[in-house]
Amino acid sequence: MSNDSASDSITTNNTPDEAASVSPEKKTSPYRRGIKSFVIRAGRLTKGQQGGLDRQWPTMGLTLDQGPLDPDSVFSRKAPLVLEIGYGMGQSLVAMAAAAPEKNFIGVEVHLPGVGSLLNLAEEAGVTNLRTYKDDAIEVLKLIPSDSVDTVQLFFPDPWHKKKHHKRRIVQPEFAQTLRRILKPGGIFHMATDWQPYSEHMLEIMEAAPGYRNIAGTNQCVPRPDHRPMTKFERRGERKGHGVWDIMFEKIDD
Ligand SMILES: C[S@@+](CC[C@H](N)C(=O)[O-])C[C@H]1O[C@@H](n2cnc3c(N)ncnc32)[C@H](O)[C@@H]1O
Repeated sequence: MSNDSASDSITTNNTPDEAASVSPEKKTSPYRRGIKSFVIRAGRLTKGQQGGLDRQWPTMGLTLDQGPLDPDSVFSRKAPLVLEIGYGMGQSLVAMAAAAPEKNFIGVEVHLPGVGSLLNLAEEAGVTNLRTYKDDAIEVLKLIPSDSVDTVQLFFPDPWHKKKHHKRRIVQPEFAQTLRRILKPGGIFHMATDWQPYSEHMLEIMEAAPGYRNIAGTNQCVPRPDHRPMTKFERRGERKGHGVWDIMFEKIDD
């Protein structure tokens, strides 16, 4: 599911005049320049996906215009919170939510067929501890309270293979600090990728990020954790002999 075939033109919210006058900090921050980590792919919803949206969105959907998130009131209980960014078709997130009913899960995905698929699977599995946004995670993260999330999951993010697209990779210094704000002290940022250069990029960004500790030791990956379900995507990669790198950083004091 790579987007590298997408147009080379990078979307930006700045007019050319604004772009010329932005501060050095703005120039180095892909998010502030409006660079997206995704391309909205055209695609019709299947009957199952549309049905999932029709039936489950009213109870499981979260929207940006609801404003700042209050997880305890959304789930009507206090429980450890897991946030997954870019869950694709949702198989792994639904499996995790079903396997851990004692936790609350929030997914964020921009691809509407994926959101429909997640809701359909969630209904089939009968999970009640799952909610989802269908928006850009960068916008959603602004609504998540500080020190509120136990684990952030980022599994197989778009690798953006070409060098000129590396700025679209979601793991960037500013992203690391945004996640650090929402993580509880001791909270975990768990990444997985099947693209070794992206694992190296993740390690480079995260080792340099203040306020984090690599739980495997400097520049090391963790063994594949059993609680991360194997997706079709990962199984296919495994059959082709691809490696998978799991990386976990803990939020610590600066
Ligand atoms: C390569 S796919 C991996 C999907 C899934 N995690 C898996 O392992 O099969 C990356 C997903 O991240 C989503 N994505 C990328 N950037 C995003 C963003 N800023 N906010 C929300 N979703 C995003 C894409 O739409 C896509 O579904």
